[in-house]
Amino acid sequence: MSEHGISNLSREDRVFEPPAELAAQANVTADVYDRAAQDRLGFWADAAHRLTWGTDFEEVLDWTNPPFARWFVGGRLNVAYNCVDRHVEAGRGDKVAIHFVGEPGDTRDLTYAELKDEVSKAANAITELGVQAGDRIAIYMPMIPEAVIAMLASARVGAVHTVVFGGFSSDALASRVEDCEAKLVITADGGYRRGKPSSLKPAVDEALAKLGDASPVEHVLVVRRTGRSEEGDEVDVTEGRDVWWHDVVDAASTEHAYTEFDSEHPLFVMYTSGTTGKPKGILHTSAGYLTQAAYTFWATFDHKDDDVYWCTADVGWITGHSYITYGPTANGATQVLYEGTPDTPHKGRWWEIIADKKVSLFYTAPTAIRTCMKWGEQIPAEHDLSSLRVLGTVGESINPEAYVWYRENIGGGSAPIVDTWWQTETGAHMITPLPGVTAAKPGSAMTAFPGVSAEVVDDAGEPVGNGEGGYLVITEPWPSMLRTIWGDDDRYVDTYWSRFKAQGYYFAGDGAKKDDDGAIWLLGRVDDVMNVSGHRLSTTEIESALVSHPKVAEAAVVGAADETTGQAVCAFVILRESAGDGGEDVVAELRNHVGKEIGPIAKPRQVMVVPELPKTRSGKIMRRLLRDVAENREVGDATTLADSSVMDLITAGMSGAKADDD
Ligand code: PRX
Repeated sequence: MSEHGISNLSREDRVFEPPAELAAQANVTADVYDRAAQDRLGFWADAAHRLTWGTDFEEVLDWTNPPFARWFVGGRLNVAYNCVDRHVEAGRGDKVAIHFVGEPGDTRDLTYAELKDEVSKAANAITELGVQAGDRIAIYMPMIPEAVIAMLASARVGAVHTVVFGGFSSDALASRVEDCEAKLVITADGGYRRGKPSSLKPAVDEALAKLGDASPVEHVLVVRRTGRSEEGDEVDVTEGRDVWWHDVVDAASTEHAYTEFDSEHPLFVMYTSGTTGKPKGILHTSAGYLTQAAYTFWATFDHKDDDVYWCTADVGWITGHSYITYGPTANGATQVLYEGTPDTPHKGRWWEIIADKKVSLFYTAPTAIRTCMKWGEQIPAEHDLSSLRVLGTVGESINPEAYVWYRENIGGGSAPIVDTWWQTETGAHMITPLPGVTAAKPGSAMTAFPGVSAEVVDDAGEPVGNGEGGYLVITEPWPSMLRTIWGDDDRYVDTYWSRFKAQGYYFAGDGAKKDDDGAIWLLGRVDDVMNVSGHRLSTTEIESALVSHPKVAEAAVVGAADETTGQAVCAFVILRESAGDGGEDVVAELRNHVGKEIGPIAKPRQVMVVPELPKTRSGKIMRRLLRDVAENREVGDATTLADSSVMDLITAGMSGAKADDD
């Protein structure tokens, strides 16, 4: 570690050099940046050739019809073969692929040979259930090995999975099943969370009942995990539609003859929040996605064959796709998969698992680090974390205090931290330090990954100078880029490629600045999207959920700074006259309503019942002013309001109580 000029510079000027030993043996060294800059497509072609192809590609990139990219044109491969079989064929079948740790304490190790058998059996079973290449499968699972197996089985038969986060409600599940017309739902009776069973299957039943005759679902494949529902009941089974995993998968053959698919064969759709209410189905395809997920995993975490890796994300988010299911397995890595929460049964659970499994590469989110900071450094100090050699973060900028805490208390003061900027849409890491190369600054994602062209531009699309801020854009296509929004090419073009159309840049929706050395610092979203605990939530979506409650006439939602979650959801609502003052429990009622409509993660931290909302003459809600209120600041310039007395009314009329944590 070297700290330059610590005495006369602010804390944020600290720089952490890569440890010499790591740098000397790093997978990626500084010259790779030069090589990629000189021949970007050649660099990605080499990365693609780390995969095993049935038919090699003829062309690296076809960009003749922008922004619709085709990568590795003419090539054919099977994604699941690359993630599983080829390691067994190379004689590494006995290597552990997954160390599963259940929340109640049950454990299960799956070797690559066992994973191959499980994926093959699941592939045979879903084929029996009528799934063919191109069909969509919705996966709604707890964090158990079957979630990864289901995704890989889907990939193996060329189906398209859409994983819906298990914390989402039945309504969210229904809208996703409907949008992508899923034929099969793979779920579990439930999982364990916070020490007790948490049901999933009833939400599937509810979602399909809601879709009624319009439901595209033919079968529901159910893993038995908890055996009982939250209430201790038997799980309901719908005759003819529902089948148990242990009946059909366990009985299936371990031999499955896979076929190879075109490079651009669809692999999955991942729904994410946009600025309008309707979630966007981000489409990723096979070879380009796998190339970048696999290569970045190897490069960013400096993965070596004897490493034990752990990513704490859920498979229901893009991080779980690229850095649990696909990237690590494509590299034949050993990883931990943990079902539960970090504080069950005690707040040292994560550190206990790291010590037990000798985890060497650890990937988590700043919000989790802040929570652990709150709990205190005495908790990790009780465990032997000396196996850790590279730490990662993702989801939002990490505050320098949290970075330094993470480095000191988890990384033993020496493990480099990779602050990885990327998105559901980008599929894989785009801006990040490399642990053997970069002298990293706490709070900065530093520089574009080799082969990725990122820039910070002004309103006119011109690059800003060092020390200046602007919009983050990607100026050239990259292998794991989204290909479109499921069923909506126009929205794809409009959302990502219209802001800097003349230049042909992808606009990520984030603000950023370049510091005096040209390092990139992310400044958050420039649109109406919030970032709560590293997850994107759309203000519009939550507003629509609030307005769907019979007592609510109008709602405005803003993200307010929050010490733990980064941003927190704050809602301002105007009640309908018929609702009177809403009643004593109106705040709890509305919070629960949002929880039901979208999921607990979207529940507002605060609901404030107000008589008016601040609007411009054209009727646009001035969220900036509401944010001032939510963050307890002096309210800013309100002169463009149609009625300038509104802010006084709001400040005076706030009746919202701060909600309990849950
Ligand atoms: O605002 C950026 C933030 O998360 C957004 C992408 O969210 P999502 O698609 O849900 O994917 C999250 C996991 C990849 C980005 O537009 N973000 C993500 N990583 C970082 C970040 N902001 C700052 N620093 C990061 N390392």
